Amino acid sequence: MSKFFNSIYKGLEPYTPGEQPQDKKYVKLNTNESPFPPAPGVIAAVNAREAEDLRLYSDPELKPLKAQLSETMGVETSNVFVGNGSDECLNYAFMAFGEDGFAFPDITYSFYKVIANLNQITMDIKALKPDYTVDVNDYLGDKLPDGTYTGIGKSIVIANPNAPTGIAIGLSDIARICEANADHVVIIDEAYVDFAEDGTSAVELIPKYDNLLVTQTFSKSRSMAGARVGFAIGSEAIIQDMETLRNSNNPYNVNRISMKCAVEALKDTDYFNKNCNLIRENRKYTKLALEQMGFRVLDSQTNFLFAESDKVKGADLYSALKDRGVLVRHFNDPKITNFNRITIGSKDEMDILLKTIREII
Ligand SMILES: Cc1ncc(COP(=O)(O)O)c(C=O)c1O
Repeated sequence: MSKFFNSIYKGLEPYTPGEQPQDKKYVKLNTNESPFPPAPGVIAAVNAREAEDLRLYSDPELKPLKAQLSETMGVETSNVFVGNGSDECLNYAFMAFGEDGFAFPDITYSFYKVIANLNQITMDIKALKPDYTVDVNDYLGDKLPDGTYTGIGKSIVIANPNAPTGIAIGLSDIARICEANADHVVIIDEAYVDFAEDGTSAVELIPKYDNLLVTQTFSKSRSMAGARVGFAIGSEAIIQDMETLRNSNNPYNVNRISMKCAVEALKDTDYFNKNCNLIRENRKYTKLALEQMGFRVLDSQTNFLFAESDKVKGADLYSALKDRGVLVRHFNDPKITNFNRITIGSKDEMDILLKTIREII
């Protein structure tokens, strides 16, 4: 640390991204990327003509992408915010709506804690239930005689489905949380929603709840993690607040090529549906095979499984897999230290994973 570093950031613990090793080629099942390439239209969009246009700034109003998102998501363009990955959307939402603090589960996407610290936002961390599900009652406050709830007096962020557990809560629970906390923003982070068995997004609740903000990403189901595009859908007023912050920080936050690619990705619904189905099939196949080997595998609605074995400790399995060229994600948090998070890849990758685990155990 230099002596010049602003003292407010001195204790900051940055986010630890999953490994992106360069030493050898791994079967890479550690950062929930897609095993499939982006849609053909996306690949065609990355051409010399587009490269020539890089001399020009990108559209600060993100018009074509907002228009396509509004069509795909069934909302107005004024309900859409676009970020450099959904991480950026989340950061602006924390900045904009974190004045009274943010509540979120203890086991969830670790970036929430990082952005809360970055923005000096207080945190109210709620334990998951022993079965690793979100306890919705923790987010309602006290029950009043008329059956309504007081709310918890702060904003809320819930990844749904949650990461790294993969478990989802239903839309009726999300509605209850929004209703109880009408004076605060409720963020539902749907990075993985497209892989859920029913695939139902909380976006449909937005007309009813002006405090609901839903974030999604192109990084997972649309195979574009490297393009860095994410978006948020919410009431016009909430989106305007986030736009105020974006335009005060980086109005050209999404580059020209990524923006073009994102539009093309949205247009190809057949390719998108086909890939989401393949991930669901491979998830089912892998979960069953792991269970047959004695693993406990949580009920995942995502493109990863969270699994623990009674035969080998989580950290040991992670290391043994890595030595054999298979990369999964292990977390040091004692509550989940026996688990590993395994991204669902292609059928071939899943077979390599399963064969390697059989050898190890
Ligand atoms: C729950 C959750 N939310 C958001 C993100 C961020 O995604 P991105 O910034 O790539 O859109 C991730 C990435 O892994 C995630 O797991």
